[in-house]
Amino acid sequence: MTTRSFATSSGRSSDRHRPLTIVLHWLSAAAVLGAFAVAWSRAASDETSTRAALMVVHQTAGLLVLALLLLRVGARIATLSTAPRHDLPWAMHAASMGGHLLLYGLLLAMPLIGWSLANAHGHGVRLPGMFTLPDLVGADPDLAETLESWHVGLSWVLAAAVAAHAAAAAFHHVVRRDGVLRSMLPAWGSRPMAESGAAGQRYAEQSKGWS
Ligand code: HEM
Ligand code: HEM
Repeated sequence: MTTRSFATSSGRSSDRHRPLTIVLHWLSAAAVLGAFAVAWSRAASDETSTRAALMVVHQTAGLLVLALLLLRVGARIATLSTAPRHDLPWAMHAASMGGHLLLYGLLLAMPLIGWSLANAHGHGVRLPGMFTLPDLVGADPDLAETLESWHVGLSWVLAAAVAAHAAAAAFHHVVRRDGVLRSMLPAWGSRPMAESGAAGQRYAEQSKGWS
């Protein structure tokens, strides 16, 4: 087992994700949110040159999502590590597994569909300052129309899945007060309050009795 344990402020024990997993998680969250922000800004712009520049940034952010996903899965396989086991009721555990699987599936599907969509429109996908990636499909307007509706439709599913995922993390932290959110925060953000020095102990003392 490559995760390590810590005692939460509520006294329950929990495991943390590995540092590499944490870094890759937050980098891919930033890349996904970046891909959305740029796609939506592009949709709101009428100027051809701005739209073209934003498409390059969008594609780069989207390809970064794919690269980070492959790194994450590769690291998981190479180190044979497993995710931390939180002490959760089985229904919550099953919902969490299902949610993570859905996220992984969408993080793979969205960039691959976007890449094929660009090719079906007759455009190569270029990594800025580097090289053009091989085409996944040939130019085909009918296919482009289908892929565009998948790409946009699935983007809403991904947006909803991310919102539900973040809400679940907040629920764990604020309502259940367990270690699930802390397990995905850097070590300096997840130290139990009572162990973080005199100031932390004073704070823990003062907040005794708060529910
Ligand atoms: C997780 C990654 C990605 C997300 C979340 C995402 C999201 C989106 C969204 C929301 C739109 C629609 C914007 C609108 O309403 O007009 C869009 C459009 C588009 N995306 Fe992505 N995308 C991702 C990855 C990619 C990648 C990797 C590529 C290509 C290499 C790509 C190519 C495109 C293209 C060509 C369009 C324009 C469709 C059109 O207007 O014809 N996307 N994307
Ligand atoms: C685009 C944004 C995000 C994506 C794509 C994403 C994706 C994922 C995925 C795939 C996992 C499963 C990791 C594993 O293999 O065990 C995960 C775990 C986790 N994520 Fe996110 N995440 C995003 C944003 C967030 C945000 C905003 C938060 C907090 C508010 C968050 C908190 C967590 C936590 C706490 C875990 C660990 C859950 C556990 O150990 O059971 N994530 N995330």
